[in-house]
Amino acid sequence: MYVLTIETTCDETAAAVIAEGPQVVSSVVASQEPLHERFGGVVPEIASRAHLERILPVIDQAVREAGISLQQLDAVAVANTPGLVGSLLVGLCAAKTLCVTLDLPLVAVNHIQAHIYACRLAADEHVFPCVAAVVSGGHTSLYACRSPLEFELLGATIDDAAGEAFDKVASMLGLGFPGGPAIDKAARSGDRAAYRFPRAFLKDAERLDFSFSGLKTAVRYAIAKPGQQLDAGRLSPQEVADLAASFQEAVVDCLVEKCRQALQRTGLPTLCLGGGVAANRRLRERMEQMAEQVGVRLVIAPLKLCTDNAAMGAIALEQLASGDVAPLDLDVYPGLIRHPALNRRQSQRAVG
Ligand code: KG4
Ligand code: ZN
Repeated sequence: MYVLTIETTCDETAAAVIAEGPQVVSSVVASQEPLHERFGGVVPEIASRAHLERILPVIDQAVREAGISLQQLDAVAVANTPGLVGSLLVGLCAAKTLCVTLDLPLVAVNHIQAHIYACRLAADEHVFPCVAAVVSGGHTSLYACRSPLEFELLGATIDDAAGEAFDKVASMLGLGFPGGPAIDKAARSGDRAAYRFPRAFLKDAERLDFSFSGLKTAVRYAIAKPGQQLDAGRLSPQEVADLAASFQEAVVDCLVEKCRQALQRTGLPTLCLGGGVAANRRLRERMEQMAEQVGVRLVIAPLKLCTDNAAMGAIALEQLASGDVAPLDLDVYPGLIRHPALNRRQSQRAVG
């Protein structure tokens, strides 16, 4: 069985061919990073236009690299929630067109579940039940996952996602876009204790939520006092490194502590970490220390499975096995609704 998976939720145009196992037979990712770089963030209109240009060549390449023809596909899966509405529509439209022309079943993939499933691919064995943290440019959420298809929201950011904070702070420090890798690198020569930045909800184990907007503001005021012009050019390389390291440590403290609290609350034996920010070196190191202390198994997706890709859409095979096929009038759902009950209902709707 071959399933073509399509991913266009944000600014990567991606397609993969997955076989039973699950086995990733091919995986192609066309990044739009250079297009958004000069704006310091993803511009939705540019993203959807770039998806339009790239989607067919990317699908074509994924099928060719798998060494099969379109006629050999058994299903098409597409991430239809959450993400940028214009971007999601491009992937969904391509997937529906293939399903209609080739008479194939359509599978609606939840992008967040797919990020968690990247850990299943990485581990090459079952990771469920687990606590899963999805930390990306658009999301920072904690889930209790009883099975690949059941995920209950435990907590989430009440404002910015961690990746968004990395990107904005990098921009304030003149480090370019995307900010995560740049801060990760700059922080290596910095002093993590040089600045004491806020860590929201850190000791409140009742609340598994995150907040990074106050941290962003604190960094801004550490660079230039209120009313002063923000000018990264005035900072010495060591000041930039110290600010990057201190900011990163504050984010990492929050992520590690909330994961620890979630593991304690649920008693689940495994922690999965996915999403673009999971590529962060310091976060990986601190999560490993914490998992060892608490005595749980830690699964972190490798770098190419952390950032957006279509291989993680392999979760579609589990959906197909449970008869979860979407209707051809399937829609896109840009937001992931916060309330756990609504969240479940939405993911059911989204998967048809
Ligand atoms: O999962 P992803 O590719 O796209 C979304 O669904 O958002 O995540 C992208 C985010 C960006 O904010 C980027 O700055 C961040 O992941 N990121 C990192 C690192 N590599 C990527 N953040 C911190 N450290 C990194 N090494
Ligand atoms: Zn993502």
